[in-house]
Amino acid sequence: MKEILRIEKLNKIFHEPEDFQVLKDISFSINKGEFVTITGKSGCGKSTLLYLLSTLDTEYDGKIFINDTLITGSSQNELARFRNKSIGFVFQFHFLLPEFTALQNVMIPALRLGKYNEKEIKDRAYEKLKQMGMETFAEKLSSKLSGGQQQRVAIARALINEPALIMADEPTGNLDTANTQNVFDIFKELTSVNGQTIIAVSHDEDFARNSGRIIHMVDGQIETN
Ligand SMILES: Nc1ncnc2c1ncn2[C@@H]1O[C@H](COP(=O)(O)OP(=O)(O)OP(=O)(O)O)[C@@H](O)[C@H]1O
Ligand SMILES: [Mg+2]
Repeated sequence: MKEILRIEKLNKIFHEPEDFQVLKDISFSINKGEFVTITGKSGCGKSTLLYLLSTLDTEYDGKIFINDTLITGSSQNELARFRNKSIGFVFQFHFLLPEFTALQNVMIPALRLGKYNEKEIKDRAYEKLKQMGMETFAEKLSSKLSGGQQQRVAIARALINEPALIMADEPTGNLDTANTQNVFDIFKELTSVNGQTIIAVSHDEDFARNSGRIIHMVDGQIETN
């Protein structure tokens, strides 16, 4: 199996309000097509780790390689371009643009990528919303959607550019059983059929157990992986 992500001795310290080492010497690698769940108690550092892996946070010690390329130390411009093309990120708190409709929110990363024309992007965005069972809400402002609906729009947005790596922070945290199962099934298919790679944080034991691999964190360290 081809390695897609490797991290070596990641350390992260927050300095406010006082020095606090949140990640301690974390190393592991993930292969293309893996479906990985990061688990661990609230506050153990899961979101912090995911931000580092996604290149959104560049304040750390250690090395991150994606596709055998050292990402650590790249300029913010390079990282932004790389992220938009290769990483789909689902935030723990969604971060949709409130004054935009669900459809417009999903279209944004694709418009930025500029690979397809606007009509094609609209069609693709609509397809992604449909996959999430959100097609009837396409024209609704995202600020008028429920938490779970926003979460599903955020997942559609992360998938629009068909990124090699999908990182999702508690993607099913606000979803009912049926929608959780739908998201899980879609993730499974993206990894097994398309060869995309998923790294998800989840507190849902079934979700974690049924994914391909669990990386369990305790107090900023990897306990099992
Ligand atoms: N910007 C920050 N400044 C200072 N401390 C922070 C900051 N962000 C997070 N922390 C601290 O780092 C630790 C890990 O936070 P993190 O958000 O990674 O936890 P988590 O495992 O994702 O938890 P949860 O399951 O509740 O989402 C916590 O103790 C938190 O208080
Ligand atoms: Mg978190």
